[in-house]
Amino acid sequence: MSRRVSARKRKSREEFPLREQLKIEEGVFDNRTMLVLGKFFTRGIVSRMEHIIGKGKEADIYLASHGPKIAEDHVVLKIFRLETSSFSNRMDYMAGDLRFKGVRGSITQIVNLWCKKEYGNLKVAEEAGVHAPIPYSFAGNVLAMEFIGDDSTPSRLLKDAGTENPEKTLDTILGDMRLLYANNLVHSDMSEYNVLMKGDVPYMIDLGQAVVRGHPKAQDFLRRDVNNILYFFSKNYGLKRDAEEAIEDIKKE
Ligand SMILES: Nc1ncnc2c1ncn2[C@@H]1O[C@H](COP(=O)(O)OP(=O)(O)O)[C@@H](O)[C@H]1O
Ligand SMILES: [Mg+2]
Repeated sequence: MSRRVSARKRKSREEFPLREQLKIEEGVFDNRTMLVLGKFFTRGIVSRMEHIIGKGKEADIYLASHGPKIAEDHVVLKIFRLETSSFSNRMDYMAGDLRFKGVRGSITQIVNLWCKKEYGNLKVAEEAGVHAPIPYSFAGNVLAMEFIGDDSTPSRLLKDAGTENPEKTLDTILGDMRLLYANNLVHSDMSEYNVLMKGDVPYMIDLGQAVVRGHPKAQDFLRRDVNNILYFFSKNYGLKRDAEEAIEDIKKE
């Protein structure tokens, strides 16, 4: 009997440091996310949570100090929201509709799947040699990846930072889209909002929605991606590139 009690005590003592680490964010993380975050500590990916560095449509982005398994000083944790965000907005539309009975239980699964998908897509990007954050690990609704920034200052988005060398930046982005395509992926949400400028090197981020070439809308997404990027460079830097030629180039074997 006493063994049971002491085992329980031991567990809560082990959990204490993590709760301490996360104190700065008390009340921010739900219990499930706390448990998932714990995995990144035990896996040696993260040793300390720092602060939030970004808020996206469906995720919060946190900076963390590296754990023993990671050589770089910082790690980024992308925490997909389970409660707030568009997922619960969608639930509002589905609540009361019998067709979606039982869907609530699977929202977590959908979010987790999305997280796993972004990890897989970043892995493809890494293998393709694309400028994108290297994915380290994922669990549940949390993705750990390379921090794009200097010291502890995150790089800024292309839309805010701009570029001193538009020709070169545009060529790198289109070249990376080509590498990705050669490895069977289309980003599908490319724009100046999903490119970080590290110095003058553009890094593509936010690969959760990337699709394989066989996806029925892959060609539409590719065209939209190219048009978004070309429009940004044309509007801000007067660069004129033919969209059809750029698409051809991306698809060239
Ligand atoms: N690896 C990273 N390094 C530095 N900053 C990042 C990184 N990933 C995301 N961010 C910051 O967080 C913001 C939101 O990330 P993003 O992946 O685009 O989320 P969402 O899918 O919700 O749009 C970005 O605009 C960027 O400023
Ligand atoms: Mg984004």
